[in-house]
Amino acid sequence: MQWSATAPSNIALIKYMGKSDESRNIASNPSLSYTLNALTSTVELRLNSKPLDQWQPLPSTAYTDFELSDKAKQRFINHLRFLKQGFDFQGNFLIRSNNNFPMGTGLASSASSFAALTKCAVTAFTELTNVTPLPISGIAKLSRQGSGSSCRSFFTPWALWEDTEISAIKLPYRHLIHQIILVDNKEKEISSSKAHKLVLTSPNFKGRTTRASQNLDELMSALNNKDWKNAYQICWREFMDMHELFHTATPSFSYMTEATKLHLAQLQNLWEEEGDGPIITMDAGPNIHLLFREDQAILAQRYQDIFSRNRCV
Ligand code: PMV
Repeated sequence: MQWSATAPSNIALIKYMGKSDESRNIASNPSLSYTLNALTSTVELRLNSKPLDQWQPLPSTAYTDFELSDKAKQRFINHLRFLKQGFDFQGNFLIRSNNNFPMGTGLASSASSFAALTKCAVTAFTELTNVTPLPISGIAKLSRQGSGSSCRSFFTPWALWEDTEISAIKLPYRHLIHQIILVDNKEKEISSSKAHKLVLTSPNFKGRTTRASQNLDELMSALNNKDWKNAYQICWREFMDMHELFHTATPSFSYMTEATKLHLAQLQNLWEEEGDGPIITMDAGPNIHLLFREDQAILAQRYQDIFSRNRCV
């Protein structure tokens, strides 16, 4: 018996960083994301003849050498065990997965991979145990337990996660053009799980919940008023606020390389020259995400040419 599911990644404009309840993956602050439907993970589950859960790469044309670290495999298997317990299912599985984009680079591979694993496992258990299918919000909550940001990948194009509630939110700009300036595609040294813990030591963490909530309110009203420039400024302030938490933590750490800083300065200059530009944001990684409005397709092409050496997707 075999099941398969694919799920997209998402990019947060208001960032989830720091947990108020680590055991349940409850974020200290609300977050807002845009779903990246072109960046996906696929998970396939098969009942395993061996008495254990195992992970293997799923053969794909995108990344032939796709492999997970031992730690990442264990995290994936642990999440499957958590789901099995919830459904009171005793069998074992062979988990096969892949991404259509590089992992561990701040491109939120944990969001898409945990969403795909949860979706696939819930489908399998529903069938195997004959239970009533869960609503999407219930599946998203289960996924949150594996990776917080993955709960937002169940809703498109905009998702809002606040405390234990995750939902789609109606905002303009339903079709954005997404580009990544890929500064580095090596796996990052400080995982986001570690970052969530370390930021608690930053003196800036006090007040972070209030600042993020305020940024969220201001961003939603800027988007609703179609005030793109203001939305860009709020998003910039927001990702910088998260990165300052990293820089001021004990021990302090940074995902920003010299190349990241140079690109950010260049992006700011381009905005100033044009009086227009993309929304710019960064996750816990050195790479830079750009979101253009649909009517900025020519501008997006220009950025693609300027950053052609580093552009990823
Ligand atoms: O889902 P996690 O535990 O990998 O956390 C990811 C958090 C950020 O990507 C840095 C921000 C976010 O809201 O997605």
